[in-house]
Amino acid sequence: MAADPAPHRLDVRHLSRSFGALSVVDDVSLTIAPGQVTCLLGPSGCGKSTTLRMIAGVERPDRGEIRIDGQAVFAPGRNLPPEARSVGLMFQDFALFPHLTVAQNVAFGLTGDRAARALRVDELLERVNLSGYQKKHPHQLSGGEQQRVALARALAPRPRVMLMDEPFSGLDNRLRDGIRDTTLEILKDEGAGVLLVTHEPDEALRMADEIALMRAGRIVQRGSPYNVYNAPVDKAAAAFFSDINVIRGVSRGALTETPFGAFLTPGHADGAEVEIIIRPQHLKIDFDRGGRGPNPTPQEGTPARGTVVRSRFLGRESLVEFAMDFGQQKLTATVPGVFLPKPGTALWLMIRRDRCFVFPAAGRRT
Ligand SMILES: Nc1ncnc2c1ncn2[C@@H]1O[C@H](COP(=O)(O)OP(=O)(O)OP(=O)(O)O)[C@@H](O)[C@H]1O
Ligand SMILES: [Mg+2]
Repeated sequence: MAADPAPHRLDVRHLSRSFGALSVVDDVSLTIAPGQVTCLLGPSGCGKSTTLRMIAGVERPDRGEIRIDGQAVFAPGRNLPPEARSVGLMFQDFALFPHLTVAQNVAFGLTGDRAARALRVDELLERVNLSGYQKKHPHQLSGGEQQRVALARALAPRPRVMLMDEPFSGLDNRLRDGIRDTTLEILKDEGAGVLLVTHEPDEALRMADEIALMRAGRIVQRGSPYNVYNAPVDKAAAAFFSDINVIRGVSRGALTETPFGAFLTPGHADGAEVEIIIRPQHLKIDFDRGGRGPNPTPQEGTPARGTVVRSRFLGRESLVEFAMDFGQQKLTATVPGVFLPKPGTALWLMIRRDRCFVFPAAGRRT
């Protein structure tokens, strides 16, 4: 088999795996370029770890092919063991060897002569800001320091592909951001392709060059964080990243009338039920002027009035729930944290037209 002239670090094609009757990973394909971080993001149980384990070589796929740097590591008639795949692994319970020193832990997967190994260990410890820690043992380190040793250990043999399964979830929030950034910087420098598994949208948005959104064993959307967040493929994809508001209506002549005015709904048949999805931060709030609302721009459509049911202060912003005057509709908006309207306050809401997503109503096709 000829190697690809400009191979991806990782090239996964049609990977599938069932346990008994349960299809856990279903036709997953993805590619990762050198220095690229792809986050495999999805809810618990959707098959993320199983996908990672198959790429690592510790779980056998039922079908599919896996190439690393253009070399088939799993294909019909071929199944390389984990140690022959040039993958680095980092998991949540990254378990350093407790009886080995930091330097011995980092050197664990290294071959070559003693001097070369020591050089690589020193270089990596410096990169993760642990110079001088060579002789310490894991129990003498903080959680964040242990994490950085684990990173150095995984990187030491210069893996072509780095597989990370929720590697930061054991760390406290403030530590996590720093370690995430350090980790990214080093991985990009080393030119590895990175597949990072997480169920936290914020982590994926922060770290990924590309997000592969997974649901029930399948990748339902792939794209940059910006695109996946701002152009979700369906309602569930939108809801995975934030609370959402849903306004239902019926499309007629590519328009859907709502209490907030008409929305453009091209591509939906006449009489088709649609759902207009709005993230809480895209609802604009204005004061009630003796029963009258603001004069919005055409971009903002028609204002509609509601009454505050509940306000929650979250620091940077407040989350405000409204019961709207029309119908039984409940809507949630976020406002800057300096603002915390009291329950019972009447306010007017407007919707940013350019920030809505329109989908066929759940369970129906248009
Ligand atoms: N060895 C196994 N035998 C039977 N079922 C399994 C096995 N491994 C995983 N599963 C099942 O496959 C599904 C996917 O598991 P997987 O660990 O890949 O999910 P995940 O997306 O990593 O979830 P989480 O975010 O909770 O870690 C689950 O329903 C799990 O119970
Ligand atoms: Mg998992």
